[in-house]
Amino acid sequence: MIELRQVTFSRTDGATQRKIIDDLSIVINEGQQVALVGDSGSGKTTLLNLLAGLLVPTHGEITVNGQLISHFNDNELAVYRRSIGVIFQHYQLLEALSVADNIRFQARLNDIKVDHAQLETLAERLGIKDKLRAFPNQLSGGEQQRVGIARAVINQPKVILADEPTGNLDSERSQEVVDLLQTLCRERRINLVMVTHSQRLAGQFETQLRLKNGKLYD
Ligand SMILES: Nc1ncnc2c1ncn2[C@@H]1O[C@H](COP(=O)(O)OP(=O)(O)O)[C@@H](O)[C@H]1O
Ligand SMILES: [Mg+2]
Repeated sequence: MIELRQVTFSRTDGATQRKIIDDLSIVINEGQQVALVGDSGSGKTTLLNLLAGLLVPTHGEITVNGQLISHFNDNELAVYRRSIGVIFQHYQLLEALSVADNIRFQARLNDIKVDHAQLETLAERLGIKDKLRAFPNQLSGGEQQRVGIARAVINQPKVILADEPTGNLDSERSQEVVDLLQTLCRERRINLVMVTHSQRLAGQFETQLRLKNGKLYD
């Protein structure tokens, strides 16, 4: 469960303070999947970064699965950040590592042992089993993002944050990637918060949050 209580995030812009996230209160229940939509500059990435523990709110509280992350110190934040899954628009795979090693690397950061059978099972689910020995630059965009999903779920997180994960994919590939992501998160009761510009993709989420100038609207 994720809870934001009157969260504000301000940046100083010359002499003025700008509220990029403006007094947001949100409750996301366990396992709930949320699409986050809004114009460019509305604060979507900032909100994900707050949930990821990469930014600290100026005011307010954020609780994730009982942890008051808005009040964590640097060490606590570092541990918290490794406990969640993140997926990026530009995949952010390590080019020098094979697909299998990209996925293993993430697990290793958390001291989680992943045996080959586990890796193969997950890769098979994602349709990339025959790509485990390949390198990222040998994959299509859709395949790279499936690796991104594998990397996000390998540590069995309770939360996955995805910032426009289909921003570089055509609509057919986008549909496949989001279907896979939603199915895996549903099976594992993972909270998924996904930013998208696609009304169609947002429409297949049980909850849609619309941001404008750092505030929610209907
Ligand atoms: N590092 C930064 N310094 C100053 N302003 C920023 C910074 N990052 C984002 N902003 C501003 O915050 C607002 C929200 O940005 P962002 O969260 O990236 O929006 P979105 O992801 O919805 O496009 C924008 O007006 C942007 O210019
Ligand atoms: Mg953004």
